[in-house]
Amino acid sequence: MRVAVAGGTGLVGALTVAELERAGHETVVLARSTGVDLARDADTLTEDLAKRLVGVDVVIDVLNVMTRDATESAEFFGRTTAALLAAEDSAGVGHHLVLSIVGIDRVPHDYYVGKLRQEELVTAGPVPWTILRAAQFHEFAGQLLGGLTFGPIGLAPRMPVRPVAAAEVAAHLARLAVEPPRRATLDLAGPHREDLAAMVRRTARRDGGPRLVVPVRVPGAYGRGVRAGALVPEAPDLVGQQSFAEWLRAR
Ligand SMILES: NC(=O)c1ccc[n+]([C@@H]2O[C@H](COP(=O)([O-])OP(=O)(O)OC[C@H]3O[C@@H](n4cnc5c(N)ncnc54)[C@H](OP(=O)(O)O)[C@@H]3O)[C@@H](O)[C@H]2O)c1
Repeated sequence: MRVAVAGGTGLVGALTVAELERAGHETVVLARSTGVDLARDADTLTEDLAKRLVGVDVVIDVLNVMTRDATESAEFFGRTTAALLAAEDSAGVGHHLVLSIVGIDRVPHDYYVGKLRQEELVTAGPVPWTILRAAQFHEFAGQLLGGLTFGPIGLAPRMPVRPVAAAEVAAHLARLAVEPPRRATLDLAGPHREDLAAMVRRTARRDGGPRLVVPVRVPGAYGRGVRAGALVPEAPDLVGQQSFAEWLRAR
């Protein structure tokens, strides 16, 4: 099959491209670094994109924007999803598979505003679809540490999660891409429930991060929701096998 991966140079995107190529599929990577800005404001975007999608059977969307601003998130995911769907429709692509996040409709969060917009456009759009909602990646603890370290001190939000390795998310995406579109949303979580703050502390210890990692209580409605388990699916459709501890040891 010929599979386009929007965001195919990112963390989960690069792993997905590698999985697809290992299975003998042809890939087309859509990212700014490969010459495609999917968020650009241009009349010609659909036309340019449709040319790149000629002969493509499936598009996997693993794009991301680093923001905590609701407007910016909604604009990015709204704009990029609309651009992809219009071009896929015009090029005759038969399946749009997008990576989302578990529980985004259960707690208010500014970044999730964009992810919900993305899901809405996909489910209402012209292209047969599948949504894979993954739990937080094992790698997420390190990403958080990157943004919440102040000299020798790192802050770590205390909340239950059920993390999964990004490599396993990529493997599921590569498999779902070559199956018929589900027109359904599937949840994927890891094998165990973990405390995110403890994951951050263990990542910092392993990577030589800040000497002191301070667990913090997340305020507001988001904090209350996540403490009540909003991001922990009880009965996920798909369950990853590698635990956080195994993943950390294997790095
Ligand atoms: N982190 C988690 O724990 C977690 C859990 C569940 C789901 N997710 C979801 O997983 C998805 C992927 O996350 P990730 O961490 O793998 O992302 P990432 O490493 O930040 O990669 C983002 C990708 O998007 C591309 N991109 C960004 N802006 C673009 C633009 N304007 N035009 C074209 N390409 C653009 C980037 O390439 P260029 O920079 O070259 O453009 C890169 O390939 C996200 O949608 C996120 O919501 C994350």
